[in-house]
Amino acid sequence: MSSNTVYVLNGPNLNLLGLREPEIYGSATLDDIAGMLEDRARELGLEIDMRQSNHEGHLVDWMHEAQAEGAKAILINPGAYTHTSIALLDAARAIRTPVIEVHLSDPMQREAFRHISYIGMAARQTVAGHGPHSYLIALEAAAQL
Ligand code: DQA
Repeated sequence: MSSNTVYVLNGPNLNLLGLREPEIYGSATLDDIAGMLEDRARELGLEIDMRQSNHEGHLVDWMHEAQAEGAKAILINPGAYTHTSIALLDAARAIRTPVIEVHLSDPMQREAFRHISYIGMAARQTVAGHGPHSYLIALEAAAQL
């Protein structure tokens, strides 16, 4: 763990990437995305700490931990908690670690209930709609911070 570490936090159902609604989310698994990010992070002189949980409180705890550990940034795909979780919004506001919101799909182009993003209200940036590449774009943005 160092100030070059980027936390990459993934919320509910993202453990099923690759199997889950592939017509929306594609065929890459979360491990595939982690591998891709690690390769690029190495080139950028960064380290990745990639995690996934189906539980909202774990994501809150990890955001606090990222700050306590002096992480460079947090990339977070909160899954459906994007659209429901004031706790994640408050966590993003409670810490100084920059937060970048990531989505594989573009929630704004989907059902109306996905159009609100609480975490987006505190995120430095939102990257959405580029499939697994969204994570890479967000990593490049983190590297610039
Ligand atoms: C998602 C979009 C959310 O609306 C959805 O609930 C997800 C995945 C995405 O990466 O496209 O679980 O965050």
